[in-house]
Amino acid sequence: MRVLFLCSEFEGVIKTGGLADASRGLATEMQKLGHEVRVVLPRYGSIYSVPVEEKWQSVYFALAGNPQGCAVRYALNSEVPLALVEHHGYFGRHRPYDDGQHAYSDNVLRFAFFCKAALQWCVDTGWVPELIHGHDWQTGIAAYYLKQFYQQALPGTKMLFTIHNGAYQQALSAMDRAQTEVYCSNGLASSSMLALGVAYADKVNTVSKGYAAELVSEPAANGLSALYQGRGVDFSGILNGCDYEQWDPATDQYLAARYSACELEGKQLCKAELKQRYGLGHTTAPLFVLVSRVTEQKGFAYLLPAIEQWLMTADAQVLMMGTGEQAYIERLRALNERFPGRFVFLEGFDEALSHQLEAAGDFFLMPSLFEPCGLNQIYSLRYGTVPLVRLTGGLKDTVTDLADSEPTGIGFSEPGVESLLVALDRALALYSQSALYKEVQQRGMQQRFGWAESALQYHALYQQLNT
Ligand code: ADP
Ligand code: GLC
Repeated sequence: MRVLFLCSEFEGVIKTGGLADASRGLATEMQKLGHEVRVVLPRYGSIYSVPVEEKWQSVYFALAGNPQGCAVRYALNSEVPLALVEHHGYFGRHRPYDDGQHAYSDNVLRFAFFCKAALQWCVDTGWVPELIHGHDWQTGIAAYYLKQFYQQALPGTKMLFTIHNGAYQQALSAMDRAQTEVYCSNGLASSSMLALGVAYADKVNTVSKGYAAELVSEPAANGLSALYQGRGVDFSGILNGCDYEQWDPATDQYLAARYSACELEGKQLCKAELKQRYGLGHTTAPLFVLVSRVTEQKGFAYLLPAIEQWLMTADAQVLMMGTGEQAYIERLRALNERFPGRFVFLEGFDEALSHQLEAAGDFFLMPSLFEPCGLNQIYSLRYGTVPLVRLTGGLKDTVTDLADSEPTGIGFSEPGVESLLVALDRALALYSQSALYKEVQQRGMQQRFGWAESALQYHALYQQLNT
C-alpha cells in the first residue's frame, strides 16, 4: 500500500521523546513488509542544515488561507523517503513545540498548516496514498481535512490515527476553529486537535493494550472517554517495538565496553567508567538511573521527595538525566548539592549519554503517573538494568513484578512516596541476593519487543482499512 506517514518527530532527524523512535521504527518496518511509505515532517529550524539541498526536489503550491503558499522539499531516494514542509514563519524556530518554557501560541495554526500542506503535496505530485498514518495531536486535524476537503482529490484515502500520548490534546479556541476551517457541530470532536483525530480518522489506536484500556475511562482520557468509547472496535492498542540494532549492549558503540546476557563483565566497566566520570564515589551500592523528559507525567512530583527521604538512609547511588519543567529541574539541582557523590543530575538531552546510563545502571527508575507505552523500560530490559516501574499502561504490559512468576523487574501501583519507598527497598533487597538479581536481570535481557511483531499488527489494521 502507499502509506503517508504524518508525524512531528522522526529519529535521526528530530527527536524530543519516544515518538521519534516509534515513528522511525514503525515506518522502517512497514517498508520491510512491502508498503510504499513516505514520511512527512515539518522542516524545523533545527533541521535546516540536515538535508543536502541539491539532492532534494521541491514543489511549491498555493494553500487556501495562506497567501505565501507552501514549499515541500523531498528526497524519495533516501533510506526512508522523506518530505519536509517548509514555512519559515511557522517552522523556522529551533524547537518543535515550545521555546523551552512555553508552548508556542500558534501551535494550532502551525500544525493545521503542516497537515494541509502534506495532503496538498500528495495531490500536486499525483501520489495518492491509500492510507495516511498520522501520529499524535499534531496530525489529528488531517483526519478532518481528509473527510471535509479532500474526498475528491484523494479518492479512497483512509486515515489511521495513532495516539502516543493522550494527555497532549492541543485545545481549539473558537478563533482557532475559524482560522483552521473546522466547522463541525459535535463539540467534543472539535474540542482539540487530538479529538479531531479520534473522531474523524477511520481507525484509531494507541501504543499499548494497557493504555487503550485506560483511555476509555476518566480521568485517564482527559475528558475524551466518550469519544474513545464511541469508536468501539475501531479503537485498539498495539505495543511499540524496540529497535534492537540501535539498542544492543553487545554492539553499542556509545559504550565503554560491550556485553551480553551471558557475558556481563562489560556492564561493570560501563558502570565504573560513568561513576568515575560523574564523581559518584567508590562503593558496592547499586546505581539507580533515569533518563526522561522532566514532566509531571513521569512522576517527578512524588519521585523527588521519595528519593530525598530514601537517600538519607539507603546505601544507593542515583544518576538522572533529563530536560523539562523548571520547577522540577531546580529541585533536581538541589539534590545534587544535598547528596554529593551519591546523587547526580545531568541537565541536557544527549543520545550517547542515554545509552551510557542505560548500560551503567543496576536499576532504571520509571515511576510514571501514566505511560502510553514507554521505551526506556524496554531498553533497560535489554541492557540488564532492572526496571523499577509504576504498573500503568505500557509499563504494565512489558514489566513483570518480582512477586509474579518469571519476574523481569519491580512494580508498584500507588503513585505516592510511601509505595515508591517500598519499591526502592525491594530493589535493594533484590540486589543483595546476587543470584536472584542476576536471574531477573538475565531474564529481562532475553525479552524481545521487536518492531516486526508490532508491524504485523499494524499491517492487519492497514488491510482492514483497505478493503
Ligand atoms: P516519552 O516519549 O514519553 O518521553 P519514552 O520512554 O517512550 O518516553 O521515550 C523516551 C525516549 O527519549 C527514549 O528514547 C529516551 O532515551 C529519550 N530521551 C528522553 N530524555 C532524554 C535525554 N535527556 N537525553 C537523551 N534521550 C532522552
Ligand atoms: C509518548 C509516550 C510514551 C511512548 C512514546 C512512543 O511520548 O509518552 O509512553 O512510548 O510516545 O509511542
